Amino acid sequence: MRPLINFYFLALLSIFPFGLSAQKSKLSPAHYKEKRADFREKLPENSVAVLFSAPIRNRANDVDYIYHQDPNFFYLTGWHQPHSVLIIYKNPQRDEEGIYHEKIYVPERDDYMEMWNGRRFDLPKVKQLGFDRVAERSVFKEDAQNFERFEKVLHFEFNNDIRNQKMYVLRNGRRSKVDDPNDLFDLKANFRAAINFPNDFNPNRHAAYQVIMEAEDDNLEEVTAAIQSIIARDSLLIEDPIIKDFLDQPVQTHYKEAKRKTAFALRKYNFDIELLPAIMADMREIKSKNEIDLLKKAVAISVVGQIEVMKAMHPGMSEREIQGIHEFVYRKYGAAEEGYPSIVGAGENGCVLHYIENDKEELNNQLVLMDLGAEFYGYTADVTRTIPANGIFSPEQKALYQIVYDAQEAAILAAKIGTNFSELYQLSYEIVANGLLQLGIISEAAEARKYYPHGLSHHIGLDVHDPGNYGVLQQDMVITIEPGIYIPENSPCDPKWWNIGIRIEDDVWITSQGPVNLSAAAPRDWKGIEALMAQESPLTNFKLPDMDTLVE
Ligand code: GLY
Ligand code: MN
Ligand code: MN
Repeated sequence: MRPLINFYFLALLSIFPFGLSAQKSKLSPAHYKEKRADFREKLPENSVAVLFSAPIRNRANDVDYIYHQDPNFFYLTGWHQPHSVLIIYKNPQRDEEGIYHEKIYVPERDDYMEMWNGRRFDLPKVKQLGFDRVAERSVFKEDAQNFERFEKVLHFEFNNDIRNQKMYVLRNGRRSKVDDPNDLFDLKANFRAAINFPNDFNPNRHAAYQVIMEAEDDNLEEVTAAIQSIIARDSLLIEDPIIKDFLDQPVQTHYKEAKRKTAFALRKYNFDIELLPAIMADMREIKSKNEIDLLKKAVAISVVGQIEVMKAMHPGMSEREIQGIHEFVYRKYGAAEEGYPSIVGAGENGCVLHYIENDKEELNNQLVLMDLGAEFYGYTADVTRTIPANGIFSPEQKALYQIVYDAQEAAILAAKIGTNFSELYQLSYEIVANGLLQLGIISEAAEARKYYPHGLSHHIGLDVHDPGNYGVLQQDMVITIEPGIYIPENSPCDPKWWNIGIRIEDDVWITSQGPVNLSAAAPRDWKGIEALMAQESPLTNFKLPDMDTLVE
C-alpha cells in the first residue's frame, strides 16, 4: 500500500500546482461600502483609482506560497481572491443599468480550476458584496481603453514581480496547459499600456518632477530642498537634464521655465503614484469600530500565546518549539496565520531585530525575545515579551530589562491624543540612554542609538507596519510601543552585558480616555513574568516520543 499512496500523491503534485487559501473577511459588505465611499470623497475631481489584488507567489516548483491579499485592496473590498482589479471613479459613470462609481473585476467560474484550487464566486454572489458593478476579469482590458479621459489615474507603483501564469483547459475531456490570458500579469500589462506607463519609469525622477510642478514664488526654498532630498536618495538624478537645469539656474528667475519643461516631459501621462498611498495612509491610520474589534481579538489571542509560553517555558525548550506553541494557540482561536514571520530569539539571537531562523535548540538561562502576532481575519497583533528561559532573571538581565520596562511604561502613559510620535520616541530614548549611562555601558547619551537602533512605534492593522502619517496621535489609532536594548557580542562594554537582547512591545489603542494597552494581560514587569513562569502549564505533561525512538 505505502508505495502506491506515495505514487498517488506524487501524481497529484505533478498534475497541478498547490494553490490558494486565504482567510475571508469577517466584516460586512456595508463596512467596505462605507470605506469606498470615504475613499471616493478624497479623490480629486475627474480622477479614477485602480487597485490590483496581490500576486500569487511561487515557493518552489509547483508549490505556491499561501495566498495573502494585498492589504489596500482588502481594506476597500474584503475580497480575498487573486487576479482581481478594483476601479473607483470620483465622478458618476453611466451604463445601460444607470449610474455607478465602482467596478470590481474577478476571476470567472471554472469548474476544473475550482476542483483543484478552491471555489470561486458567481458574479451575482460578488455583487452581493455591495459593489456597484461586477465583471469577469477578461473585461478589464476593454474597459482600460479609455483611461485618457481622466485628469488623474491613481495607482500604486508596480514594484512587485509577477509571474505570468498558466492555467489548464479541458477540451474533449483532455487537459492542456495554456497561458492564462487574464491573470494579474496580463491585467497589469493591459493597464500599463492604457496609461502609457514608461518602461524606464523612475519613481524618484517622477517625484522630483511633481515637486517642480508645485513651485511658486513663495515656496522656492522648500521646493529646492525637497528636490535635494530626493537626490540624496538617488544621486544619479543629478544627471537628469530637467532636474540639473532647475538646480543650476537661479531658481527665482528660472523656475517658470523649468515648470514648462517639466510639464512638457509629463504631458503624455495622467497617472499618479503619490496620491493613492497618501489617501490610504490617511484612512488606514484611524481605525473604525469594526477594525478595533478585530484588532482586540488578534491581540487578545496573541497575549494568550505569550501567557501559555511563559508557563510552559523551560531551559530545554527550543526556539522552534516556543514558536509552535504561540502559533498553535492562535489557530485554536481561528487565526489563519501570523501577521509577520514569528521572531523567537534567545541570547545573541535576540539581538537580531527581525531574527526568524528560530533554530536554536538549547536555551539554558538565556533571555528569549518572543515577537509574535496572530493575524485574525486580516488584522494583526504585534506583541513582544522577553523572558528568561529558566524562569529567573539574572542580575544583568534584570538591570537592562528594567530600563526597557521604564522606557515603555513612560511612553505608554504619554500616548495621548495630540502627542507626537517623535515626542514619544524621544521620551523612551532619554530613559534608555540614562539607564545605559548609569550602568556604565555608554559614556554619552548619543551612544544609546547603537543599542536602541529602531523606532518606538508603528500603526498596526491589516499590515503589521500599517500605513499612516506619523504626526500626532489621534483617537482610534492603534499603535505599538516597543523600546528595546540589544547588546551583541564584542560591543564596547563589559562582556557581562553581551548577548542580551530585550524588547517589550504592546499594542495600544488611543482613546479620548487615554491610552488603552490591549496586550496588558501578558505580564511585562519582571516580577509578574517570574510569577507566571512558576505556574504549572498544561503542556508540562504533553510528552511526545523521542525522535530516536521513531526511526531506526
Ligand atoms: N514585529 C515587527 C515589529 O515589531 O515591528
Ligand atoms: Mn514586533
Ligand atoms: Mn512592532
